Amino acid sequence: MQTTSAMPRLLAIVIPTLLGIHAGIATAAPVEPAEKPHATLNIDTSAPSKAVSPMLFGGFIEHFQDQIYGGLYEPGSTLADARGFRKDVIAAMKELKLSVVRWPGGCFVSGYHWKDGVGKVRKPVPDPVWGATDPNTFGTDEFVEWCRLVGCEPYICTNAGNGTPEEMKQWVEYCNATEGEYARQRIANGHEQPFKVKYWSIGNENYGPWEIGRKDADEWGPLVDQCAKLMHEADPDIKLVAAATKKEEWSLPLLAAAGKHLDYVALHEYWFGYQSKNMMPPYKDCIMRSEGPEKTIETMLGILDKAGCRGRVRIAFDEWNLRGWHHPGFPRKKALEAGDAEAVEFIAKREINKIHAQYTVADALFSASFFNSCLRHCDDVGMTNIAPIVNTRGPLFVHPNGVVKRTTFHTIAMYANLLESRVGKCAVEAGQFGGGKNPIAVIDAVVTVDESGKKWSIALVNRHPDQTADCTVKLGEHLLDGTFAATVLAGASPEAFNDVEHPGRVAPEQTKLTFTKGTATLPPHSLTIVRFTQP
Ligand code: AHR
Repeated sequence: MQTTSAMPRLLAIVIPTLLGIHAGIATAAPVEPAEKPHATLNIDTSAPSKAVSPMLFGGFIEHFQDQIYGGLYEPGSTLADARGFRKDVIAAMKELKLSVVRWPGGCFVSGYHWKDGVGKVRKPVPDPVWGATDPNTFGTDEFVEWCRLVGCEPYICTNAGNGTPEEMKQWVEYCNATEGEYARQRIANGHEQPFKVKYWSIGNENYGPWEIGRKDADEWGPLVDQCAKLMHEADPDIKLVAAATKKEEWSLPLLAAAGKHLDYVALHEYWFGYQSKNMMPPYKDCIMRSEGPEKTIETMLGILDKAGCRGRVRIAFDEWNLRGWHHPGFPRKKALEAGDAEAVEFIAKREINKIHAQYTVADALFSASFFNSCLRHCDDVGMTNIAPIVNTRGPLFVHPNGVVKRTTFHTIAMYANLLESRVGKCAVEAGQFGGGKNPIAVIDAVVTVDESGKKWSIALVNRHPDQTADCTVKLGEHLLDGTFAATVLAGASPEAFNDVEHPGRVAPEQTKLTFTKGTATLPPHSLTIVRFTQP
């Protein structure tokens, strides 16, 4: 573990705790498969391919810890532009071809009032959710400007906690109207042209007892219906998402009451719940969660089918990550005095999110499988947003002197830059891994193809920690043969990670992959993207 000069005493407080946690985790027993890891990919070249949504590799950013202030926004930093946006963060986001970003929360939004965050005079307010004081210097105008600099779609999540439907409508007007009180306000704030914010969410996790203004399932649908009507009055062209879950008892009544207005239902999932107790499980424990995302998608599709909305309403996986954020003592539901002793202590504990050793090759490969699952269902999954995109548990760690690209950064960059725009039909037969009652496939694969049907790009994950895997690819009737350009992300060990002193320990390598009579060998604990043109 390393620290930066920005987190001096806090880490000194938490380090002993962390070491205790780390030492308390048993190392996973070595895996002894009965056979060499292998898989066969049968690609059906005559089947129609499916288009991938351009928003499949998006991000989420919340007013939490230093995701915004001291993350992407740091006025006064020599690394920031004149408006305070960190230029190195913007460059990294461009490298990810970031397509969409959800803001301002998360739980934070259920206590957030957008009017505090616009205009010349900004009012700092106590944040009742995370116990901090929000200076409100980063609000709607700054968020939209930042998205324009990055080149991504802004996606605003509204306050369905202690906010009102009228407040949501006015927010849409502020962003998108050409006339009226809120359009005039935006113009007075220096933005003559409407922001044209296309993606809006009604609420965040309003089913949860942790959320300010939690709702019952029978209240939620009618409320979403009311909010959607008002928001569409302000701008009929916006795309609407509503807070949902994979639980029928919440999502079926929502879809029955308001499904006609919705373009997406939101899903959130963190496959380790570390909100109150952090842990650092070994590679195998992490990798064994890799098939969870697909199960969640399939469950949600069952609900969309049952509601008769499938095909019209898609899934926005608008918060996801392997590890839940660590924030013991939070969320709260009441504003605290700045400096409240208990809050200060709890806020210090969030520094645990900064331990670089937590973000290993396991996170990179889990994320690859997350994307593979979404790609396999790309007609139904229209958006995903890693939570968060910057700091806390995100792919980019920002410190006062620069950034560190964590292992997941490279996964996202590879998927966003190296895959083709459509998903091809492919049956994967893979050996199993993990033993026990619930083994998983040792190789996970997804096949993409361009519009012409000739250029292919295949993402292959070898989940085995220490064995190479044989992967056979059959393209129509032919076994793939030849040597092709490939990019491989593996690192020296399954537990490898990047930090400030070693930012390039886990990084993609450009190489070649040779298929002989259809079969190529994949390195242990690796993600490979191989590209070729059909002969
Ligand atoms: O742990 C962070 C929180 O996770 C987000 O604010 C919330 O939306 C989700 O429960």
